[in-house]
Amino acid sequence: MKGIILAGGHGTRLRPVTLGVSKQLLPVYDKPLIYHPLSVLMLTGIREILVICAPDDLDGFRRLLGDGRELGLTLDYAIQDRPRGLADAFRIGADHVGGDSVALILGDNIFHGPGFSELLTTAAEDVDGCVLFGYPVHDPERYGVGEVDEHGRLVSIEEKPAKPRSDRAITGLYFYDNDVLDIAKNLAPSPRGELEITDVNRHYLARGKARLVDLGRGFAWLDTGTHDSLSAAGQYVQILEHRQGVRIACVEEVALRMGFIGPEQCHRLGERLAKSPYGQYVMDVAARAPEPDPHTPASRP
Ligand code: DAU
Repeated sequence: MKGIILAGGHGTRLRPVTLGVSKQLLPVYDKPLIYHPLSVLMLTGIREILVICAPDDLDGFRRLLGDGRELGLTLDYAIQDRPRGLADAFRIGADHVGGDSVALILGDNIFHGPGFSELLTTAAEDVDGCVLFGYPVHDPERYGVGEVDEHGRLVSIEEKPAKPRSDRAITGLYFYDNDVLDIAKNLAPSPRGELEITDVNRHYLARGKARLVDLGRGFAWLDTGTHDSLSAAGQYVQILEHRQGVRIACVEEVALRMGFIGPEQCHRLGERLAKSPYGQYVMDVAARAPEPDPHTPASRP
């Protein structure tokens, strides 16, 4: 499975903060926002990832993430010259996806909850159609909304409906089989002029191939679209990290856990950041890692 992080747009609702820097590079307490979607893809086991961003932001993303090699990843970049809609990611990323399945994640979405890694790897197995992730919210009219029947089967999907049929928002993480490239290629823009991800999902629904995985109430799916919600997301991360002594979306730790890098490389990455508590944490994680077993390969495929 290939991965795409859609990190374009102008972050207009966060101005003036986003006048000089991309929204997805803004800090959520101790790390850039994009570490969150990046770690979700990594936890799914995805190593080939395309970052799509606005032209002015390319340098910043490259400076932060490079070619991904240090994390055991292959990162590529592509430009979206203006926000044409979320499904545009599959037109821009068609070559990157090739003949594979693909996970798309929005660069501003934060997920955190128990059992998430296992849920991701299970959902990514043999994707036939699309897998969407639903989350109960009090204001579903702000999102794509999925309605399920009494057997938990998805029966309708609507984009920002005035009268939502359920409280299940469809989050910004989507798994698709390779048909998504054709569906996106043939998609017509919506009345607001965008290539809507909801229209892609409806194609799958019409074929009986759309599945909704519920994230449930014990989970956190956080918004970062406004000054208040971005600040609240930072506080959430800060509180949990202080309380538990572990860091959320620490990409070096995820790379180590997934076997993409070994403890020595993890230590090197931490050493470079050693003046910050984050860097110290990365070095601690490396020091606590068990010695790699010489009989098992250093990295997973
Ligand atoms: O966050 C989940 C929601 O994301 C879904 O529930 C909706 O179905 C989906 O349409 C989308 O709704 P939003 O109103 O949040 O989409 P927005 O236009 O704000 O874009 C989300 C992020 O994607 C934002 O950080 C900017 C980026 N983006 C957006 C567009 C339209 C791009 O990079 N390129 C684009 O063309």
